[in-house]
Amino acid sequence: MFVTFEGIDGSGKSTQLRLLADHLQAKGHEVIVTREPGGSKGAEDIRRLLVEGDPGRWSAETEILLFTAARRDHVERLIQPGLAAGAIVVSDRFADSTRVYQGATRGDLRATVDALHARMIAMEPDLTLVIDMDPDAALARGLARQSGEDRFEDFGAAFQRKLRDGFLALTEEYPDRVRLVDGSRDREAVAADVAAIVDAALAARPS
Ligand code: TMP
Repeated sequence: MFVTFEGIDGSGKSTQLRLLADHLQAKGHEVIVTREPGGSKGAEDIRRLLVEGDPGRWSAETEILLFTAARRDHVERLIQPGLAAGAIVVSDRFADSTRVYQGATRGDLRATVDALHARMIAMEPDLTLVIDMDPDAALARGLARQSGEDRFEDFGAAFQRKLRDGFLALTEEYPDRVRLVDGSRDREAVAADVAAIVDAALAARPS
């Protein structure tokens, strides 16, 4: 099973991903934890180009190409082999981030994102958890980290609000795959919801 976490910067999704991985490992599953952009050597190299530097460093169109190139390497070298070996692969972001960050924030580029995805990636997660957060609170948290990877946070609060709307729209576009989780609660409550959703999805799969 391929599970992804999505949400705006600072939504808490990376913490929730780790807690889910612990939960699944404790139940005896083999789990591969990964992230985008990144997850393979080549994709981690591309990551640095994307998350560091000025917001205006790349156009949205160039970003689509770079994120998709990183994703292709990640899928070829880690995700597909991991799934083929029977692991649960859990990724911090995947193609939904490109649909929202590049497809819906700086002009309507969704058709371009979809065309390249169909040609070069052509796979979707089995389950996607969108961790929903108030954009102002999330932005404060994201910038407070001072990770040096703030290029997208530096687009500002209005950008983060557009992102949130984009992620909420995905739950309507893909109701069978994308589940919304209220990330404003304490992390144990959020983690309990996440675990329940994933456990139910695992139980529903044909063995
Ligand atoms: P992260 O901070 O969650 O590791 O993600 C890195 C940044 O890259 C984050 O600001 C979101 C952005 N991003 C996109 O803009 N498009 C994408 O396709 C992906 C995977 C991430």
